[in-house]
Amino acid sequence: MPKEITLLHGIDTLRSVRKFRHDSVPDEVIRSILKSATRAASGSNTQPWEFVVVRDPKVKARLTEPMLRTWLERLGSGPRMIGRMKEVYDDATEMLRNTEKVPAIIYCCLDLNRTSRSEEVRYASILPAVQNLMLAAYAMGLGTCLTVHGSTSTRGEQEVKEILGIPDRVKIACLVYLGYPAVRLGPPRRKPVEQFTHYDRW
Ligand SMILES: Cc1cc2nc3c(=O)[nH]c(=O)nc-3n(C[C@H](O)[C@H](O)[C@H](O)COP(=O)(O)O)c2cc1C
Repeated sequence: MPKEITLLHGIDTLRSVRKFRHDSVPDEVIRSILKSATRAASGSNTQPWEFVVVRDPKVKARLTEPMLRTWLERLGSGPRMIGRMKEVYDDATEMLRNTEKVPAIIYCCLDLNRTSRSEEVRYASILPAVQNLMLAAYAMGLGTCLTVHGSTSTRGEQEVKEILGIPDRVKIACLVYLGYPAVRLGPPRRKPVEQFTHYDRW
């Protein structure tokens, strides 16, 4: 059993994990993590979320193609990266290439029939649930990495939706790679809060 972490410690130390052990994640653990996700706030309490949990290696292998292809196209057309940024992108690419081996991938989706027409309300009605999901997973000894692969037409959304049988009215917002971490990561590198804080006026 992993030792329990407090909510604030979890928030302070949550990292993106991109290397996972092969152990599968038990059904009851996935259910519990998703239950935490669905405790989140949403606009007018519409609860527009839908989660597609992918564990079948054959399905994961099929999903890799559109997500990796569009990611590599994007990288190829962007600026050349150096330093820390290049390391992050290299790790991100490796994780994507290894999608088949990741124990579970959770596609976090929005049912457009159950949410506001305004885009800002839509995304603000799923992202708190996704953060809950990642914190709950962390509290249960799991690692997560959020990505937006498969979430727009230029990221292979249509192909991903076809593979998963996701209906037209449902939009992929993001996905979370999930598994028991194969690495130990240090604290997150973040700038001091003072740098981003304005009181009473900018
Ligand atoms: C909107 C969003 C998109 C992201 N996309 C990717 C991604 O495609 N691949 C990846 O490996 N990590 C992705 N991440 C994780 C970030 O790279 C990570 O949070 C950041 O580098 C800080 O690292 P840390 O979370 O370990 O502190 C994404 C995070 C967010 C919030």
